[in-house]
Amino acid sequence: MAFTMFGRTIRKIGIIGSGNIGPDIALHFSQNLSSHGVPVVVVDIVQAALDAGSKKAESKMAKAAEKGIYKKGEADAIFKNMTFTTDYGKIADADFVIEAAFEREDVKHKIFDQCQAACPKTAIFASNSSHMEPEVIFKKMKDRSRCLVIHYFYPAERNILLEIVPGKDTDPALTEYLMKLYEFIGKAPIKVKSRYGYAVDPIFEGLLEATALTVEKGLATVKQADVIVQKALGMGVGPFTAHNLAGGNPITQHGLTESHTKIMPWYRSPKILDDQVKLGKPWETAARGEVVEYSAETYEAVFNRVIGAYLGMVCEIVESGISNVGDMELAMDVGLVLNPPFAMMNKMGVKKALELVEAYAKENPGFKVAEVLKKQASTAQPWKIPVVFREDKGDIAIVKIRRPKVLNALNEDVLEQLRGIFTDIQKDSKIKGAILTGFGTRAFVSGADIGMLASQKTPQEAEAGCLKTHSVFNVIENLGKPVVCAMNGLAFGGGNEIAMACTARIATKGQKVFVGQPEPKLGFIPGAGGTQRLPRLIGIEKAWAILRSSNPISSAQAKEMGLIQEEVEGDLIEAATDWVKKILSGKVKVPSIPKGPIPIPSKLSEVDLGHLSRKIDSLLQKAILEGAKMTLEEGLKLEAKIFGECSLTQDRKIGIENFMKNGPKVNANFVHA
Ligand SMILES: NC(=O)c1ccc[n+]([C@@H]2O[C@H](COP(=O)([O-])OP(=O)(O)OC[C@H]3O[C@@H](n4cnc5c(N)ncnc54)[C@H](O)[C@@H]3O)[C@@H](O)[C@H]2O)c1
Repeated sequence: MAFTMFGRTIRKIGIIGSGNIGPDIALHFSQNLSSHGVPVVVVDIVQAALDAGSKKAESKMAKAAEKGIYKKGEADAIFKNMTFTTDYGKIADADFVIEAAFEREDVKHKIFDQCQAACPKTAIFASNSSHMEPEVIFKKMKDRSRCLVIHYFYPAERNILLEIVPGKDTDPALTEYLMKLYEFIGKAPIKVKSRYGYAVDPIFEGLLEATALTVEKGLATVKQADVIVQKALGMGVGPFTAHNLAGGNPITQHGLTESHTKIMPWYRSPKILDDQVKLGKPWETAARGEVVEYSAETYEAVFNRVIGAYLGMVCEIVESGISNVGDMELAMDVGLVLNPPFAMMNKMGVKKALELVEAYAKENPGFKVAEVLKKQASTAQPWKIPVVFREDKGDIAIVKIRRPKVLNALNEDVLEQLRGIFTDIQKDSKIKGAILTGFGTRAFVSGADIGMLASQKTPQEAEAGCLKTHSVFNVIENLGKPVVCAMNGLAFGGGNEIAMACTARIATKGQKVFVGQPEPKLGFIPGAGGTQRLPRLIGIEKAWAILRSSNPISSAQAKEMGLIQEEVEGDLIEAATDWVKKILSGKVKVPSIPKGPIPIPSKLSEVDLGHLSRKIDSLLQKAILEGAKMTLEEGLKLEAKIFGECSLTQDRKIGIENFMKNGPKVNANFVHA
């Protein structure tokens, strides 16, 4: 068997190096491609490394089975799909090889020389180097169009961030293929231009440097600085602890030394890092449960410096042009798991951020204050952080919502960016149609951001919030150009509601839990058009049960009801492109939502409400039945008003609190249940 998608076929994956990270990269591929019959082969020159790698993968899969993440049989199959060998001949038919051996130029050259001789002439060659530019790693290769860096992050099977770094000779089509492939197998890849260390490691390593320098200055001890920076940046563990866990001191020492000449002169290995590497010991960080004391002055002294360094480094990367605001925000958030920098600057004020960076640069020779930061501060405006992306393919615009951490939930930024992008598309005479989709494969849009809803305290605020959302969806609905919604995963609440504002909907085939309006579980009614568009699209009778019960339906059911036009196997965007073309050419006609009143059957079916709030249900019924007698426009206004009324109920408060604590499934103990 093989995995054929996005125009390429992969029959086998080869991983070179069975050290810290190689087996984890292999495991991720096996988890995602073993069901397609794609074996994964790990090659190393040291048998003991292969044995350790195999044992680690086996134990990770055994734990995943224990936790119920995989069924026992599946977990065993994933592990058995991996081979650990010293024989390079075993990758002779690999279509994709990733090297994760020593961070040494000569070693990497030798390995790729062997791969070039052994593998098919079309095989993709990638290095998981932490720093080295693809031009350096692949300079001796005959065909560099198939070569690039793919930089994973610890732990590689779980951390979703990936840097894809093409070299100057890499075929751009290959980079695009890999961006799609990785998104399809659960990663969040960012494309980074070639430069030493790429976009993320200079921050990771620079944070250790900045923290170590506060210790060298006598402002805090290692223990104190570690916990202060952990708190200041919202990290899972402090920078010293992170280096202990990943055994990363030598590589960071090397990275910082090189970055001195290759990025900016501030980068250097601090003396305490040199000493620690010499000692070969981990940092002395707090023991589990140990409380580390420090004064407010100590906190402030460390905070100001490390945050100044952090924000300054991120702006330097953006200024260099190797990455951008949206990707750096995502990378820090999901890859390094730090408070994302641009949101942090917006919160404290960009002017204050600039002050911190300038103060840091004054105290630390060689630290650059990026012009982009000065310019942004001078506008007195917050940074615009993109979460919705537009890419034009010919005369079709592909619009993608990307918030992987919250499964592409809609918040005010998403809504405003959608408004801006679709308004531009409307005005753009080159564009004939659009596709709306979400990032990844789990969700199209998981719903409205609960934080946004919870912040609407009064009926007036809640109603105004709805009307604003309606106005964005109306732009899509009345674009005058077809918009096909490519539902790449589940669509709950606002997700289903925005999809219904599109001209047509197609979805990845076989989604058991696909579409739902879970709002009553949270103590309110759908407020982004669900009570009006769903009955108009599939008829009141069917909408009645979906809306009132809160129960989700599968993609097959959605297709049967006419809520979506097609279930798609394979490349969803390609299928959506075909749909736009078919609609434009008049080959298909998708029934549009009736804008006027719709008939109400004399008798509607009983719906089992279980533990749902009767009070909210009566408001919901009113929105559906009264709305059906009106025009869509009036109905939407009515929905917004009733959505506002929900916030006067005790059940909304209970439902939201319950959701924040327990998620959407648990009985909310409504007063009116
Ligand atoms: N460890 C991490 O978290 C991490 C993260 C991102 C990138 N990286 C990069 O990934 C690479 C590997 O890192 P690591 O931490 O796993 O290193 P490691 O030293 O733990 O393992 C490297 C492995 O490569 C093997 N090897 C050496 N020469 C070989 C050859 N010619 N053929 C086959 N195998 C060979 C070694 O025997 C060893 O088992 C490095 O370039 C590193 O910078 C590591």
